[in-house]
Amino acid sequence: MLKIDSVTKNYDKKCVLQDLSFTVRTGEIIGLVGENGAGKSTLLRLLATIDKPSGGTITLHHLSFDKDRNTIRKSIGYVPQDIAIWEELTVKENMQFFERLSFKSKSLNELRNLCVEMNLHKWDEPVKALSGGMKRKLNIAITLIHDPEVLLLDEPTVGIDLKSKKEIGSYLRSQAKEKNRMIIYTSHDMDEIKELCDRVINIGEDKFYQELLQKSGKEIISI
Ligand SMILES: Nc1ncnc2c1ncn2[C@@H]1O[C@H](COP(=O)(O)OP(=O)(O)OP(=O)(O)O)[C@@H](O)[C@H]1O
Ligand SMILES: [Mg+2]
Repeated sequence: MLKIDSVTKNYDKKCVLQDLSFTVRTGEIIGLVGENGAGKSTLLRLLATIDKPSGGTITLHHLSFDKDRNTIRKSIGYVPQDIAIWEELTVKENMQFFERLSFKSKSLNELRNLCVEMNLHKWDEPVKALSGGMKRKLNIAITLIHDPEVLLLDEPTVGIDLKSKKEIGSYLRSQAKEKNRMIIYTSHDMDEIKELCDRVINIGEDKFYQELLQKSGKEIISI
């Protein structure tokens, strides 16, 4: 279980996150919604161990994000809001590059399968020749190389066509339900959130999204 307990984040004197508490269970997909600037990416960065909370604690199965940071890192996969891959390298070379930096070693066949599972078949094409949706898929495949238990995705489906959205969505669902990963992801697409998530967390003062989702029957936590 991932437990976020009374987490606060300030930048200088500005309070971005105030006293957030919630838990995520194994196999769950959590949708993080909220207006621009609400603090969704900030929260994901804290969960990705890239940034530290100003107050409160985060634990994963009793491991502390503060004291056991290096161990925790092995269990976290994070896809940032801006795509982070090498444009000049091919899909294969990107996968090989990130495999070398990864906590686990994978064969070339296993790396290729990660891409194929996402319906990304352009193995020998340079990344600069791929569409935005394909780049997103590659970024997700890279994040799965070390088999993380927690998958954090910041707007993984923004600006991509409906077919790729659906493919990414059903892939994430299978990753949660069959591979028992916890997935926390942000999106502004409420249809997708309704379809994909087990629970929704509305972050920030604005309850616009909460009202939109109210009728869907999803459990919505407002923090
Ligand atoms: N490193 C930083 N230093 C200072 N302020 C920051 C920093 N990072 C984020 N902020 C501020 O924190 C607030 C929340 O930003 P964040 O990027 O988390 O929002 P968001 O919910 O992801 O928004 P969006 O929907 O636009 O992606 C914003 O006001 C932003 O300006
Ligand atoms: Mg953001």
